[in-house]
Amino acid sequence: TRNFEKVEEIIQRHGRKKENLVKILLDVQKEYRHIPKDVVNYIGVALGVPPAKIYGVATFYAQFSLKPKGKYTILVCDGTACHMEGSMSVLKALEEELGIKPGEVTQDLKFSVDKVGCLGACALAPAMVINGEVYGNLNAEKTKEIIRKYKE
Ligand code: FES
Repeated sequence: TRNFEKVEEIIQRHGRKKENLVKILLDVQKEYRHIPKDVVNYIGVALGVPPAKIYGVATFYAQFSLKPKGKYTILVCDGTACHMEGSMSVLKALEEELGIKPGEVTQDLKFSVDKVGCLGACALAPAMVINGEVYGNLNAEKTKEIIRKYKE
């Protein structure tokens, strides 16, 4: 089970008040790269807020994720242009290289893959973004090469 020292520290830093819920969750997200269930329950008790309300907040804001994300967050565009140019083969290459499908994260929490809508980089289709860095004109081979660099 989790040691809640870190969570307690975050709560104390912001103040044990309902109004600070979003700020507390932002720090939890940063710390764990998602909002773990047991932490939701802990915060619920600490702030006197029902977990349902916390889940409401966590799903409302795009910054929050209820599932763990990788240290490297890979977003593969599956907008129209990218789809036409082969985003499926990018996803397949990622699956071959990392063993995960969209919405999943590797066991070591190093990589996660998600499918997203148009990234606004259609000229580079098919494209993906890894921690904010855009990679374009991808094919299976190029995708694998990029991932291998991140693995090093
Ligand atoms: Fe992929 Fe626009 S459709 S960047």
